[in-house]
Amino acid sequence: MERTFAIIKPNALADGNAGKIISRIYEEGFTIVGLKKLYLSKIEAEGFYHVHRERPFFDELTDFMASGPCIVMVLQADNAITRWRELMGATDPAEAAEGTLRREFGKSVGVNATHGSDAPETAAFEIGYFFSGLELL
Ligand code: PPS
Repeated sequence: MERTFAIIKPNALADGNAGKIISRIYEEGFTIVGLKKLYLSKIEAEGFYHVHRERPFFDELTDFMASGPCIVMVLQADNAITRWRELMGATDPAEAAEGTLRREFGKSVGVNATHGSDAPETAAFEIGYFFSGLELL
């Protein structure tokens, strides 16, 4: 079993789609081993996305992530990192396949409804940024 880190981003909560996304997570066979609703500060969002700090969209991305509440989760399944990224679809909702979460709930390459870790090392950092071991059941 592998764990990955996931976010339901502020646009998906604001649009009332968090429940639908969580239903899909269960339907696709993931176990949610940690979950909380947070309102990230700008500084917390910058710390989370620090690998992108030199990218031109860094300010736009971190402003968006601090614009409203989000839901952070740890998902567990066989091959969870790849499977969650497949369920999310491409970063840009316009390029995401039919049936993926970003295609259904995303609006743009930044406002794209969900986040997922891209590798085991990233998942370890991202899980540790939001959860302690005692919070993962
Ligand atoms: S990378 O380097 O391939 O991982 O980059 P990418 O996956 O394309 O994007 C990384 C995250 O940055 C967000 N992003 C943007 N936000 C705002 N504006 C623009 N133009 C933009 N381009 C990319 C994108 O939604 C990714 O967020 P996460 O949360 O990692 O999915």
